[in-house]
Amino acid sequence: MNKSYSDATKYLLTNLNRIRPIDNCSKILDVGCGTGRTLITACTKYGCGGVGVDLSDEQIKDAKNTLKKINIMRKRNGHKPLNIKFVRGSGSELRKLFPRSKQFTHVLSQDALLFVVDKESLFKNMFRLLVSGGALAIADFLAERPQADFSAHERRTIYKMLNWNEDLSFVARSRSFPQKRQLSALRSR
Ligand SMILES: C[S@@+](CC[C@H](N)C(=O)[O-])C[C@H]1O[C@@H](n2cnc3c(N)ncnc32)[C@H](O)[C@@H]1O
Repeated sequence: MNKSYSDATKYLLTNLNRIRPIDNCSKILDVGCGTGRTLITACTKYGCGGVGVDLSDEQIKDAKNTLKKINIMRKRNGHKPLNIKFVRGSGSELRKLFPRSKQFTHVLSQDALLFVVDKESLFKNMFRLLVSGGALAIADFLAERPQADFSAHERRTIYKMLNWNEDLSFVARSRSFPQKRQLSALRSR
């Protein structure tokens, strides 16, 4: 599992860099950054900066702690600290988090966008936040068979563990995506 995760990160970053080369002036937005490993990997490799957004404050806390430790080590070794910020927020509400447009040269997301409820707002804002000619790369889970909704008990447990502050979607429900019923119809073809 860890290997497939890190292979996916490598593949995502290779493609992001192919679309628009990442350099030390680049600024990357990671939506659903989790513990920050993808963004930290990218910024370490290319010497750039970025912002990671995640709905879970447990994940953001973890990401901040990791970054703090890495930057202490970097300082000890005479390297500049990584210029990364981790912010708790929702992919559905990027407008609130980033009211100004065109702030990033690259936007990425690994295995997180399927959870974002308002996909229309998500994609509109990811596009708005990119400089002209900026690059967007997404890696996500794809269901191989119909996925049952979580039970109320499972949802409560997940929200409690991760300290999520909004609902989540495991099936695309916004206007521009097929509804659940349409997805089952597509699958049965
Ligand atoms: C499977 S993890 C992936 C984390 C990270 N991208 C990685 O590859 O390690 C999915 C992440 O999406 C976050 N998430 C779920 N719904 C979200 C939303 N609406 N906005 C932002 N992040 C969300 C979760 O808190 C979780 O950290």
